[in-house]
Amino acid sequence: MNSIAEPTQKRLSTSEFAQLASFSKREFGLNLSENKMPLVFSRLSKRLEERKVANFSEYLKILNAQNEHAERQELVSALTTNVTSFFREAHHFETLKNRLYELKHHIEKGKRVRVWSAGCSSGQEPYSIAATILSVYPDARKLDIKVLATDIDPKIVSKAKSGLFRREKKVEIPESLARHLKPSTVNPEFDEADDVLKNLITFGELNLISDWPFSGPFDVIFCRNVAIYFDQDTQRRLWKRFSDLLTDEGIIFIGHSERICGPALGCLQGIGITSYQRRSKLADQKILGD
Ligand SMILES: C[S@@+](CC[C@H](N)C(=O)[O-])C[C@H]1O[C@@H](n2cnc3c(N)ncnc32)[C@H](O)[C@@H]1O
Repeated sequence: MNSIAEPTQKRLSTSEFAQLASFSKREFGLNLSENKMPLVFSRLSKRLEERKVANFSEYLKILNAQNEHAERQELVSALTTNVTSFFREAHHFETLKNRLYELKHHIEKGKRVRVWSAGCSSGQEPYSIAATILSVYPDARKLDIKVLATDIDPKIVSKAKSGLFRREKKVEIPESLARHLKPSTVNPEFDEADDVLKNLITFGELNLISDWPFSGPFDVIFCRNVAIYFDQDTQRRLWKRFSDLLTDEGIIFIGHSERICGPALGCLQGIGITSYQRRSKLADQKILGD
């Protein structure tokens, strides 16, 4: 495939595609193999039109310009999807609930519990986590339990933070969440999360392949349907970074088509479908000492 063109005569040459792929990998860990060329072309052609840019070479110059941080974010938004839903893969939330029960003594002594939704998209994942926490600990606001929700895309983070969700007639929302969603006073087609739910969650913008401005530890990490965009090396590094940040017996949930690979496998054990638990560090030391 040497180039792709559309009626308006914009062309994406293989060399421009290679530059876009290498830029996307370096900046965001995205893995764009050549079979993604038609997808990249169609998604980015829209960006070129919106920015009134004549061709892909010009667009590459824009991406590399220092003051074009926002365009780089647009690039990630165009190349990834934000598809998500409340209680997606309900079994993960059952495991979360069980873990919260296991931590009862710890939690009721006022000790710290942190859950991270990494790649939270428009917020359905962290709000489902918060609703699960409240179903086990209705007084969670008096305890030291918090959810951190991050995504690379600032627009989607502010959408998530608003707590506004279009009401979908066919979607059955579990009672644990439904009781915290009230009709929006601003737009009758939307529901809004109440403050009890919102106050459990802190939102932030974060590129998972950059430095992380916190050191954890986290009792539970959800990173689902995000690593799928990354190449193998980036995935291996990411799983290891997550496993280093988990508490003893902390749990990580990943997407249905993802698998943990690389050195993280040495300290994580599978405990169910796409669910892994950090082996106790004490047990690790014992193994090393044996
Ligand atoms: C398909 S959504 C997954 C949402 C949710 N985790 C779920 O499974 O329902 C993927 C999200 O990953 C985010 N994303 C892509 N690359 C990222 C990166 N390098 N760092 C952080 N988030 C990223 C996208 O912005 C998008 O919101």
